[in-house]
Amino acid sequence: MAHFVEFRDVSFRYQSDGPWVLKNVNFTFNSNEWLAIIGHNGSGKSTVAKLINGLLLPQEGDILVDGIKVSPETVWDVRERVGMVFQNPDNQFVGTTVRDDVAFGMENHGIPREVMVERLGESLEAVGMEGYETHEPHHLSGGQKQRVAIAGVLAVSPQLIILDEATVMLDPLGRKDIMETIREVQRERNLSLITITHDLREVTEAGRILVMNEGEIYKEGTPRDIFAQLGELHTIGLDAPFITKLAAELKTLGLDFHQEPLTQEELLNALWTLNSNT
Ligand SMILES: Nc1ncnc2c1ncn2[C@@H]1O[C@H](COP(=O)(O)OP(=O)(O)OP(=O)(O)O)[C@@H](O)[C@H]1O
Ligand SMILES: [Mg+2]
Repeated sequence: MAHFVEFRDVSFRYQSDGPWVLKNVNFTFNSNEWLAIIGHNGSGKSTVAKLINGLLLPQEGDILVDGIKVSPETVWDVRERVGMVFQNPDNQFVGTTVRDDVAFGMENHGIPREVMVERLGESLEAVGMEGYETHEPHHLSGGQKQRVAIAGVLAVSPQLIILDEATVMLDPLGRKDIMETIREVQRERNLSLITITHDLREVTEAGRILVMNEGEIYKEGTPRDIFAQLGELHTIGLDAPFITKLAAELKTLGLDFHQEPLTQEELLNALWTLNSNT
């Protein structure tokens, strides 16, 4: 099966005499997959995202999206397939009302009017912003702006959605809600998803994690593989989810897990099983 995104020996720098910000990055990403990218500030995560939709072009190597090589000639074909939401929602609004803003992306993608009306309602409801259709985006709170920006990308439903710290302004519950909604839409419409985040709880359910460090891919694996390597994450200054750390502590006290727990539920189940075996 063809990969949906492929990076082939990609290197990138912002200035021709500046430092390389990405160094020989190789990875592939399949359709319908959820890939999470983590790594500390400045490790190159947002640069990867911007290269995928052609906002930036690499000096070395090739990037393929749905089999199309990203270049100045193909950038519009690529953007047709890739929707992106950034951390700062203020730079993403184009409409004077929430309704116009969500409709704008759909208009650009030539979505028929009847579908637009339906999707507008659905998407705003999905992010908990129904009733805000006539509000002006710049009068919303940071978190509400992020919700509207996410509604905009859900309404278009491109084949790939990239969320680059797109929920940082939401409180933990709001974040969890929105992520669940996005996952539902992703499954229903068979979309691919890339999330970039510093919130490690948010990625325990991802299919795969890329750990970036200083412009390189440091590790790649399932959340369980990645978070089992506490020492290695620590080496590059990354933390692990609380549950992983707690499980590691419990292990040093002699508890033996069959499988490293990743969520609170898994940890409780594991403890319950241990308890009923003794
Ligand atoms: N417009 C730019 N011009 C010059 N250098 C840049 C620019 N944007 C980013 N960089 C540099 O490129 C490197 C990678 O930045 P990038 O934004 O990809 O990191 P990141 O992993 O997304 O970080 P964060 O977690 O802080 O968002 C950093 O060293 C950064 O300073
Ligand atoms: Mg970033």
